[in-house]
Amino acid sequence: MTKTSWERRHVLSLADFTAEELETVVETAVSFRDVLSRRTRKVPALQGLVVTNMFFEPSTRTRSSFELAAKRLSADVLNFAPGTSSLTKGETILDTAKTYLAMGTNLMVVRHQETGVPQAIAMEMDRLHSGVGVLNGGDGLHAHPSQALLDLFTLALTLDPDHPTSKQLAGKKIAIVGDILHSRVARSNLWCLTACGANVHLAAPPTLLPPGFADAFISQSPLAISRAIVQHNTLAPALSEADFVMTLRLQKERMTQHRLPSLREYHQGFGLTRDRLRLCQPTVKVLHPGPVNRGVEISSELMDDPALSLISEQVTSGVAVRMALLYLMGVGKGE
Ligand code: NCD
Repeated sequence: MTKTSWERRHVLSLADFTAEELETVVETAVSFRDVLSRRTRKVPALQGLVVTNMFFEPSTRTRSSFELAAKRLSADVLNFAPGTSSLTKGETILDTAKTYLAMGTNLMVVRHQETGVPQAIAMEMDRLHSGVGVLNGGDGLHAHPSQALLDLFTLALTLDPDHPTSKQLAGKKIAIVGDILHSRVARSNLWCLTACGANVHLAAPPTLLPPGFADAFISQSPLAISRAIVQHNTLAPALSEADFVMTLRLQKERMTQHRLPSLREYHQGFGLTRDRLRLCQPTVKVLHPGPVNRGVEISSELMDDPALSLISEQVTSGVAVRMALLYLMGVGKGE
């Protein structure tokens, strides 16, 4: 494992991640990808540490891949499930976190349907001088850093399988299509991709991508770097000459009003199909964070086409990238 400098105790958002930090994650994930391809797929890096998964909202890939990542680093893993926990008896979230702290937890991965919960836990852990690192596993509409980082790793790997680097993304056109308004994945990707110098084009109906969204987003940047984001309310200009297209799930559970006429009409306007990808670069590939509404944001046929879809690669990359994050945050904690 290469020695890298890493200053962050918590990973709550990518808004203030520099290009160098993003590259550190990619480089570290590359070495863990090599570990995962060996016969013994485990390293002792986090032996003796406890990683607690606190998922207050449903999850398949994020929770499971954090669990596998922690195990492959030889950490002990605790999984918290709200439905069978003392939350049902009225225990608060912070008291639940403190309970896991008292058991010796070193790293917490927190997912919650409300924005800010991982940050609130991180602040409490700091107030107690616990040294615990908190990783945001997805909070409300706000952020999902590990998803954007695994997307970055997947893109870098596709662009140069032998030497994946985030530097390859500079100048690439990446379209993000779909339910941008309700997507923490889109927000984290916007910070991440623009910091790497990619040109991001957003496409969605105005109800899912309101006027001024991109400018308002850029104006919140805590770093003084230029970020290239263009928004469109039709699909064609976003797809035109795109190197990659990322499509997002329609987040029906987060829609408070009826924002769409019908799913069929949505698919007609913004659903990705093989046919529509003809507007893109001939080497175009499609990403989707999952879970997918087949036939809504993406056609079944395109989703299952291994020549065009990176969806399985994203899931595979997720383990190496989450190993990298847990390693960078956890190394040194056990000594
Ligand atoms: C995403 C999430 O939960 O934010 N899924 C994921 O983590 N792979 C996106 C979604 O739910 O649509």
